[in-house]
Amino acid sequence: MCGIVGYVGGQSALDVVVAGLKRLEYRGYDSAGVAVLADGGLAAAKKAGKLVNLEKELVDRPLPGGSVGIGHTRWATHGGPTDANAHPHLDNAGRVAVVHNGIIENFAALREELAERGHTLLSETDTETVAHLLAEEFSSVGDLAEAMRLVCRRLDGAFTLVAVHADQPDVVVGARRNSPLVVGVGEGENFLASDVSAFIAHTRSAIELGQDQVVELTRDGVTVTDFDGAPADVRAYHVDWDASAAEKGGYASFMLKEIAEQPKAVADTLLGRIDGAGRLTLDEVRIPGAVLREADKVVIVACGTAFHAGLIAKYAIEHWTRIPCEVELASEFRYRDPILDQRTLVIAISQSGETMDTLMALRHAREQGAKVLAVCNTNGSTIPRESDAVLYTHAGPEVAVASTKAFLTQLVACYLLALYLGQVRGTQWGDEIHAVVRDLARIGDDVERVLETMEPVRALARSLADKDTVLFLGRHVGYPVALEGALKLKELAYMHAEGFAAGELKHGPIALVEEDLPVVVVVPSPRGRSVLHDKIVSNIQEIRARGARTIVIAEEGDDAVVPYADHLVRIPATPTLLQPLVATVPLQVFACELATARGNEVDQPRNLAKSVTVE
Ligand code: M6R
Repeated sequence: MCGIVGYVGGQSALDVVVAGLKRLEYRGYDSAGVAVLADGGLAAAKKAGKLVNLEKELVDRPLPGGSVGIGHTRWATHGGPTDANAHPHLDNAGRVAVVHNGIIENFAALREELAERGHTLLSETDTETVAHLLAEEFSSVGDLAEAMRLVCRRLDGAFTLVAVHADQPDVVVGARRNSPLVVGVGEGENFLASDVSAFIAHTRSAIELGQDQVVELTRDGVTVTDFDGAPADVRAYHVDWDASAAEKGGYASFMLKEIAEQPKAVADTLLGRIDGAGRLTLDEVRIPGAVLREADKVVIVACGTAFHAGLIAKYAIEHWTRIPCEVELASEFRYRDPILDQRTLVIAISQSGETMDTLMALRHAREQGAKVLAVCNTNGSTIPRESDAVLYTHAGPEVAVASTKAFLTQLVACYLLALYLGQVRGTQWGDEIHAVVRDLARIGDDVERVLETMEPVRALARSLADKDTVLFLGRHVGYPVALEGALKLKELAYMHAEGFAAGELKHGPIALVEEDLPVVVVVPSPRGRSVLHDKIVSNIQEIRARGARTIVIAEEGDDAVVPYADHLVRIPATPTLLQPLVATVPLQVFACELATARGNEVDQPRNLAKSVTVE
């Protein structure tokens, strides 16, 4: 959480930094602030609430112009979302300004120590201690990068820090441990940011910073060291999308744009996965075939929507490879002492590649000797960096907090991975793999067709805007789809929404059903395991008999559901395992429309942030 920008160059730092913060606001929107170096001093402004409040403040009380600056948009951890707790934080002399993403775990001891030395701390944040420590160290070493290295060695926890000092006015310094920080390399200007979208309008040349590194930026140079000052290895890369990919492009929200982009995102994720000899080639999967052949267990770790993708992947992995597969919430994983060894393949799924729970889970897995493969959407992010291998989804930047296109591409990547395991282990024949890849290649068009028929779903969503509860039911791969539908509604519409395995209904949840309660049911294909289909048709009848208003998502041509559907949403017929790729789409549209009808801001739901970089 929290978005950070730093700039040094020839442009107005304030303009560059505020524009960068706009792109990073999805990371947190509790408060925002900026600091610029100008006229031999440092000027700062910060405001609780969304970035627009800061922009108003900058109109009312303009800051002096300067070409070196930093900025921050916050998701509050230590201290509420107030002006005082907003970043940047300054030392008592007002010469140093620092912004921070993460949590400094030993901040209480540091605060006490600083207070004993006569410092006055004005906020409740952990970050402010860093401003004071930097000021102290700078006064002895006279160099901000060195001061940063000395301070970082004293900090516990997760932090990205970016700082400026009025006595070294041509420099911006950053540090990174466990939270993201990327360098943008321009001509006569350089950038620091939590992700590349903040500077993509200026440069597509980026440098990925490693763990425990300090970077010093001047207009013409980028110097990276470790915390001891030794030169560090870095990876430079070219960002393969441009600024327009991170714009709304005429849509009312990023979420609507990202829902609409799903056919392309699915197609892009499939691109180039088959070689001339017709074999699946997942180039980024660098785990040797022998290791994959010997794996006796797959464990998937992920959070939120990515976890739901993992739940679906389990069905494909077990069916196509016959390897047992567990799926676990990353936030629970390492605390239960999971049984892992060299023969365990761990798959970490993450759109951002920065989710701290997932990162900690994969570190734990590697410590136990397991091999970790990341399924990730963000090039250069921490999770792929720390994994043994990576399979990138090619969804492009996902800005809306609610994950949509990333989910569909995570599914595609997991299906490919399952097939690849089947190929390597010989549990799938080449023609079987091709048949699935052909089906996957058609899915983009199916998603497009679903999107073209969504007006009745939108109308239904608007008509339910005053409801308190919506339930979601599914069986087999439809069960995680139900969970995902409920999660979307919770996070966007702030409604009570729950997903259940339809077979579990009679074990308790059916007690929730009352007159006119909307219940969404994801119906499996009648052409797959027909017994599963028949059972869910019975489940629909059971809830309808108790007054539920049934919203049935069923394949075209599935007539058995018609008598029991108060609202029928048709999706194209797909193979059983692939159905989530089309069945999820109406649920995304439903949640987005219902939230909008309730007056909620869909791109920035309350209390949430896109990248969850704290545990
Ligand atoms: O970046 P990640 O995929 O690791 O994020 C995981 C979850 O935080 C994320 O999917 C979250 O649940 C979304 N807001 C759901 O829409």
